[in-house]
Amino acid sequence: MGYSISDRESSLFVLSGEELTLPFAEISALASAYSNSSKIRRYGSRIVTSSISESDIIQRITDRAAYCRFGGILVSKSRDLASLAAPVEKNPTQGNKKFAVASLSLSLEQCGQIGAEIQSKTKLGVSLEEPDYVFQAESIPEGFVLGLSRSGYKEFHWRARRPRARTFFLPSAIYPKLARALVNLCRVREGEFFLDPFCGTGSLLIESSLMGMKAIGVEITRWIARGARLNLDGFSLPFESTIRGDSSFSLPFSEIDGMATDIPYGRASSTKGMTTKEILDGFLRSASACMHSSALRKKFCVVMHPSTVNLEEIIENQGNSFQLQEQHLLYVHRNLTRAISVLERTAK
Ligand SMILES: C[S@@+](CC[C@H](N)C(=O)[O-])C[C@H]1O[C@@H](n2cnc3c(N)ncnc32)[C@H](O)[C@@H]1O
Repeated sequence: MGYSISDRESSLFVLSGEELTLPFAEISALASAYSNSSKIRRYGSRIVTSSISESDIIQRITDRAAYCRFGGILVSKSRDLASLAAPVEKNPTQGNKKFAVASLSLSLEQCGQIGAEIQSKTKLGVSLEEPDYVFQAESIPEGFVLGLSRSGYKEFHWRARRPRARTFFLPSAIYPKLARALVNLCRVREGEFFLDPFCGTGSLLIESSLMGMKAIGVEITRWIARGARLNLDGFSLPFESTIRGDSSFSLPFSEIDGMATDIPYGRASSTKGMTTKEILDGFLRSASACMHSSALRKKFCVVMHPSTVNLEEIIENQGNSFQLQEQHLLYVHRNLTRAISVLERTAK
């Protein structure tokens, strides 16, 4: 079933509704990680199309993205619902395959209408519980879009990796969904070196290892570094190393492909007497020594920190070896809003 709409719109992603700016930033980061020249277009807050047409890349992006509910090829885009399934072709490999029509924005009746047309054309069976193919139909301001995933519903296994379910627990540990998005924002790919310089219990290392990166963690407290190792071992995940070190002083690595971290700010995690600003200042100096962008490859460092810290000022005082690309705010409680800053290492 080789569908495509135009060169600019070949795939469809449906984002989850939480965290205003993060889902779109994550999918954009992943699209650019796999295809430098990819074009991405947004319809409303949750529907995104991209020029990426390779099904293995669409699948990888879908599997990786924490805030993505659906990813697949874009089958059609139409002004009216009645013609949405028109480009669906007869399925040459029907066998015993089953399909479902899913939607976040259309009614059951509308999905049923689309499903009936797909069934009459393809002769596929229907299974709403365990479909082999998922047709995702959504309304957009200009009409409707229809996408197709050949790998069934996207499954989430966040609960199994929540902080309390791990071998080693600390209250400062972050949830796997957010940890994964932080890793994805730094645009690192499979087989590359990913570093979390303040790794704590290893939440980001777990997600990066699951996504096939070579995970490296640095942690100042020896027993916490050991805890991070226990957590990776607990899920039988490979990792490069978790070492005891002071990331605000130096990082003993020659070249890292991407970094993401959750900076200590002295409430749930120890700052060893330093202010968050001092830690960030020292860390960014160390980070610039082991991460280099080129014309062919831009590298990114993602930092989650209290929104009260002025990161731009720190970068400027250091001579702009990083550039602030984007910032996302996450409200935690009255006294804490987190900022997720995406920094691009400037090329020399
Ligand atoms: C906010 S916590 C990280 C939590 C982690 N993301 C997790 O999910 O478990 C920050 C960690 O940085 C560690 N830390 C503090 N100062 C450090 C430094 N100078 N170098 C490396 N690690 C440091 C703290 O011990 C703490 O475990």
